[in-house]
Amino acid sequence: MNFGTSLQSANVLIVGASQGIGLGFVRHLLADPHFQHVYGTFRQASTAEDLLALAQPSARLTPLVMDVTSEDSMAEAVATLQAQTSQLHLVVYCVGLLHEGDFQPEKSVRQLSSENLLRSFQVNAIGAALLTKHLLPLLKHDRPSVFAAISAKVGSIGDNRLGGWYGYRASKAALNMLIKTASLEYARQKPPTQFLPCCTPALRIRACLNPFSGGAARKLFPVERTVAQLMAVLEQLEPADSGEFFNWDGSRLPW
Ligand SMILES: NC(=O)c1ccc[n+]([C@@H]2O[C@H](COP(=O)([O-])OP(=O)(O)OC[C@H]3O[C@@H](n4cnc5c(N)ncnc54)[C@H](OP(=O)(O)O)[C@@H]3O)[C@@H](O)[C@H]2O)c1
Repeated sequence: MNFGTSLQSANVLIVGASQGIGLGFVRHLLADPHFQHVYGTFRQASTAEDLLALAQPSARLTPLVMDVTSEDSMAEAVATLQAQTSQLHLVVYCVGLLHEGDFQPEKSVRQLSSENLLRSFQVNAIGAALLTKHLLPLLKHDRPSVFAAISAKVGSIGDNRLGGWYGYRASKAALNMLIKTASLEYARQKPPTQFLPCCTPALRIRACLNPFSGGAARKLFPVERTVAQLMAVLEQLEPADSGEFFNWDGSRLPW
């Protein structure tokens, strides 16, 4: 039986729901009455206006403040969540950092800095790992549950033919290993929680070429299509798929 059949009346947490793919997930889930409740995290109201506006008319959406670089912030958000529900059935970690202010993806080792490498690891990998720890009580129940983290194809070591983007690539590879390891630990739980990294296609967001697309105008998907593709991958999951590295079209990626 695939995971889609377990999503009836599901409670879903979208981490990093203020913009981009995370916000797209929230819109997609609210439009589908099969989902019972959607929790969406944001860091700051200034970039979460669309999410907060969606919550006004919808009693099925609860925005939660969470900065994934602060374990205290995580614990507070999870405590608020636990006051409202004892079960989550799907968690999608959509937080990601490729560039920020002066910090741009490194093209050469000459551009490496410990500060920027640490920042990439903290946001892209460590945040997701710590969240698995904080969310475990909400994922342990009598229904199947999935924790999916949006990784990146450039995080595949086997697929790295172009080089560059050191911090982003390495932190996504670390994310993959952390999630794979959690999948092995929780495979023995009954019913098991599945943990998996999955990849989006490059996409166009906010009317300009997103830096994730590498400036290339090829294979750019709108957010809605990206989310629909990823939901289709999640719905098709079988218990044995836990810990696999999925591409957006359901194919498997090399580690
Ligand atoms: N877009 C692509 O083409 C592409 C391709 C491959 C993989 N991906 C991956 O897909 C995921 C989503 O990408 P996207 O394009 O939707 O990115 P995005 O539009 O830049 O959104 C990133 C999200 O992460 C949140 N975030 C960043 N730092 C955070 C922190 N410290 N604490 C909590 N939230 C934080 C942002 O919140 P704020 O609003 O507060 O900044 C925002 O909600 C990322 O993991 C990315 O690596 C994207």
